[in-house]
Amino acid sequence: MPGERSLSLWRRAQSLFPGGVNSPIRAAVRPYPFYVERAEGPYLYTVDGEQLVDYVLGYGPLILGHRHPRVEEAVRRQLERGWLYGTPAEGEIRLAEKILSYYHPGGLVRFVNSGTEATMAAIRLARGYTGRKLIVKFNGCYHGAHDAVLVGAGSAAAEFGVPSSQGVPEEVAKLTLIARYNDVDSVEKIMRKHGDQVAAIIVEPVAGNSGVIPPEKGFLEALCELTRNYGALLIMDEVITGFRLGLRGAQGYYGIEADITTLGKIIGGGFPVGAIVGRKEIMSHFTPSGKVFNAGTFNAHPVVMAAGLATIEVLETGEPYRVAAEAAKAVREALDENAAARGLDYTINHVESMLQIFFTKEPVRSPEDASKSDKKLYQRLHEELLKRGVFIAPSQMEAIFTSGAHNAEAVEKTIDAIREAFRSIA
Ligand SMILES: Cc1ncc(COP(=O)(O)O)c(C=O)c1O
Repeated sequence: MPGERSLSLWRRAQSLFPGGVNSPIRAAVRPYPFYVERAEGPYLYTVDGEQLVDYVLGYGPLILGHRHPRVEEAVRRQLERGWLYGTPAEGEIRLAEKILSYYHPGGLVRFVNSGTEATMAAIRLARGYTGRKLIVKFNGCYHGAHDAVLVGAGSAAAEFGVPSSQGVPEEVAKLTLIARYNDVDSVEKIMRKHGDQVAAIIVEPVAGNSGVIPPEKGFLEALCELTRNYGALLIMDEVITGFRLGLRGAQGYYGIEADITTLGKIIGGGFPVGAIVGRKEIMSHFTPSGKVFNAGTFNAHPVVMAAGLATIEVLETGEPYRVAAEAAKAVREALDENAAARGLDYTINHVESMLQIFFTKEPVRSPEDASKSDKKLYQRLHEELLKRGVFIAPSQMEAIFTSGAHNAEAVEKTIDAIREAFRSIA
């Protein structure tokens, strides 16, 4: 559990930040968050002198684990050449070429600074391109912290029971129509009624902000077809899945193609980033070639570009994907065996290096199913694992992520911790 030094920092933070933190999920670690001194490979080292196996990985970006030497070297080399120019540099070209070799070949990229900015700009682009106002999103999917998508949002918003944030005007929320994930009928119904006014459907191809919920066969395909039929665009929000489910992300994994893809997390190698990628004909509507405004002081930041490119180059060896998938399988098996041995009701959802356990005996096919599981029991699992040196997300509505740094030693430590944690919770 967090110790005295974390507690003292936490007390100082109370008088500095709303709720003591700068992003709400961080306050969900009870009784107070641990503070990190440094990180290396699969481990976080706390200010209290503890080593934790990290399955949060910055909420997804760190697919190579902490301080991968290739990424560190690329960042250092960039720092030696300065870190912000206010004019283009080669790094953004190299990263864009790399991304376009996997997503929307022949298309264009716009780099921004976060997943939030990416989905915000993508929605504006879809509205500008189609001349329509409405968007469709799925209940329990999270696309960042801006008004259009803070309606029926997952992640911390659902966790704290605030599906629509205060401060989002009703008039704005009304432009966002909510369908049910993995429920094609619910989308068809909306499209039949409003299809000619819908600019875009935005979806997480694997819902990663309501635990982990894979798309059922035919779901994503139906979204492609519906958007095509109604002249709307499909925005695939691959902020989590991009370069996590493989080099072509969820679209490669499931064999589908969106009109616009939003990326973030992994493509910045652990630094703040977002990107909108899509066909030239759509993307060229962004300023300055078009009239959909987007700009940013830090867009295509040289250090971020260098870290992102190095990360993808390491991923191209295939080795991190192999190690991460193997670690995820081992963690899944340990959760499975121990939950079964204690006679608990549970379901595990798992796609490559993303997984989550839900304490319910029903299958979890939708965020609504996920929210019916025993969240208190999950919280206890999180706490008991933390006591034993393993950090999984403090909320059921997040994913457990593995990385290419999750070696046998880290996995063994995790398996032991899982066994003991289950003994104490059931
Ligand atoms: C699918 C998805 N889209 C968008 C975002 C927002 O990204 P950011 O936190 O970088 O703004 C997130 C963040 O977790 C996400 O999971």
